[in-house]
Amino acid sequence: MKDLIWDNTLSVQIQEIDEDHRRLVDLYNILIHAVVEENAANYIEAVMDELISCTVWHFKHEERLMLKYDYDGFAEHKAEHQELIESARELQQKLLHEGKPVSSEDIQFLEHWLIGHILGTDMDLGAYLGEVM
Ligand SMILES: [Fe+2]
Ligand SMILES: [Fe+2]
Repeated sequence: MKDLIWDNTLSVQIQEIDEDHRRLVDLYNILIHAVVEENAANYIEAVMDELISCTVWHFKHEERLMLKYDYDGFAEHKAEHQELIESARELQQKLLHEGKPVSSEDIQFLEHWLIGHILGTDMDLGAYLGEVM
């Protein structure tokens, strides 16, 4: 399983947002290692909890910036955040409480979950903030 590597293609050109995203990429890699190495379930659960908590915190950070700088796409962006958190909680529930093994589809899902939003919705926000901050 390959680690996600942070590089400039993931940068939204806003330093405080990039710093959060780097942390999320680090946690994603820690989680994937834990899954591949079949670490104890309570450890994997702790990593997932940390990833989800950091993501919730990060989304609030972005939403605060959107409000501060009057971003037009606020409602849509926030709705996407809510869907992402719900889908991560569903995956956590499935893996940890229903005892299902982690599949490569689950890993692909998580990678897309993390990277898809950064490359799309967050890039648009970064471009806007770059002009107004
Ligand atoms: Fe976002
Ligand atoms: Fe983000």
